[in-house]
Amino acid sequence: MDANDWDQRYAAAELVWSVTPNRFVEEELTALTAGRAVDLAAGEGRNAIWLAGRGWDVTAVDFSQVALDKGRRLAADQQLRGTVRWECADATAWRAEEEYDVAVVAYLQLPADQRRAAVRRAFDALRPGGTFLLVAHDSTNLAEGTGGPQDPAVLMTAEDVLADLGDRSFEVVRAGRVPRTVEDGHGEQPARTAWDCLVRVVRLGRGAPAGIPGQPGIPSVVSPCNAHPPREEADNPCPETVRRSGGRGSPGPRPGPPRRERPEGHRSHRSRRSHGSQRS
Ligand SMILES: C[S@@+](CC[C@H](N)C(=O)[O-])C[C@H]1O[C@@H](n2cnc3c(N)ncnc32)[C@H](O)[C@@H]1O
Repeated sequence: MDANDWDQRYAAAELVWSVTPNRFVEEELTALTAGRAVDLAAGEGRNAIWLAGRGWDVTAVDFSQVALDKGRRLAADQQLRGTVRWECADATAWRAEEEYDVAVVAYLQLPADQRRAAVRRAFDALRPGGTFLLVAHDSTNLAEGTGGPQDPAVLMTAEDVLADLGDRSFEVVRAGRVPRTVEDGHGEQPARTAWDCLVRVVRLGRGAPAGIPGQPGIPSVVSPCNAHPPREEADNPCPETVRRSGGRGSPGPRPGPPRRERPEGHRSHRSRRSHGSQRS
């Protein structure tokens, strides 16, 4: 879909996505101290506005002006401790004008070459020590999950995203797939599981030497699933939590079987809408 297609989609509904942030964005970023964030492909700004509500100064980038205008109106209705700057730009070509503490990319489903460009744009916007967080519909969702794009070319795995970062210097905090329960909203249908891909890495300092544990190229398992607290302990459904620095590497074994999550559910592209919006 190009920018015009997205404009039309956004113009056709009061809200396409939820007002509330994506659950993984919320879980991963809640504990961070507010600073500057970029939300690349921000859509109507649910994640950007949530961050601004927590005191972050956010640049929300999207190539749909209609989506950004909706986001601006949503933000204007709220008392935000931080700010949101709305910027209309192509994520594959966007250039940061400042350094960010966090870069979020949520459900930007593009063919591999465009995805790689956008992933790198987001990562390169970070200061050393900054956090890159990507959430997307996982490749395995097509056969094993529900909703989301049905074109395998725009799906991805955590491995793909880590490979997109190429030789950049980073440490992997989390990389794998995560289950997301999709409720029908009325309890009439059984909840279904959608599979998302989640990658969280920290940018290392420029010029960090290779070959030192915790530095590029040296993987080390550091902890189980500590950012997805108690409700995940039973079946360990979160992605393998490893630290792996630099470039390529497997994100580790797949997590356990699907299980139910928050009752409010996360709506996928094709699932029912709540108040005219979808949540993924
Ligand atoms: C599925 S929506 C996700 C929106 C938002 N990240 C969220 O989670 O609510 C994908 C968004 O990516 C935007 N998008 C797609 N391709 C883009 C590109 N090349 N540059 C900028 N935005 C793009 C669309 O306009 C749309 O808002």
